[in-house]
Amino acid sequence: MSEQRALVVGNWKMNLDHVEAIHLVQQLGVLLRAHTPERTDVVIAPPFVDLRSACSVIEADRLNIAVAAQHVNPAESGAFTGEVSPGMLKRLGVQSVIVGHSERREMFGMTDEIVNTTVRSALQAGLRIILCVGEGHEVRESGSAIEYVTNQINNALDGVGERHYDQIAIAYEPIWAIGTGVTASSEAVSEMITAIRDILPAGLKKTAAVLYGGSVKPENAEELIVLGRCDGFLVGGASLNAEQFVQIVSNVDGCYGKNR
Ligand code: PGA
Repeated sequence: MSEQRALVVGNWKMNLDHVEAIHLVQQLGVLLRAHTPERTDVVIAPPFVDLRSACSVIEADRLNIAVAAQHVNPAESGAFTGEVSPGMLKRLGVQSVIVGHSERREMFGMTDEIVNTTVRSALQAGLRIILCVGEGHEVRESGSAIEYVTNQINNALDGVGERHYDQIAIAYEPIWAIGTGVTASSEAVSEMITAIRDILPAGLKKTAAVLYGGSVKPENAEELIVLGRCDGFLVGGASLNAEQFVQIVSNVDGCYGKNR
């Protein structure tokens, strides 16, 4: 595990049009040049309409940033009004996709079964995935958070072949911590991250980064890495601010590897 790299993903959600996106990517480029991470990969996940512009700036300025989509439809093409396929993302130069974010599960009816179909289709198309899992407040209160989350993972990865293991990262995002300013305690994060690693098949355990998400800020990043024992973060709100996002990347880079 110690040779593994950390990963920080910025989930912009439905924020920033393509002009604003170009500006933010350029700012990230300048800051990342000044604070080049040694053991941390950086990914941004802008809205669909920004993907092309983000990829172009990254390519032109040779930035070490990968681009992810926030969602994808598992079908290759067809009558799916408003949707985008894995092949379309690949063609655009997008490397990764977030699958099963709690906002998609809660607001857009993404069941465990659809998450599984999407995971398999994205992997098959050669995309990397950031699989999101996490319990709501009631599940946490009932004491069954670990069982709930490990079930989500088993369902999502059902039927995924070993040859895809190096395309997979998992993000544990307790729903009650997303966008609320309330971060899970490092003990709770460590307990869940350890439980997640425990249920992964041996080959996947070696390669998969297990991230935490939910109100991550520069101030709590180091503690969550060292005591929470995660491999990085899925960052929402703070990823819209270049200084904050790069500070999170730098803080992760400074302490990753000392936590295991
Ligand atoms: P947040 O969002 O950092 O704003 O809490 C995290 C996420 O939803 O991925």
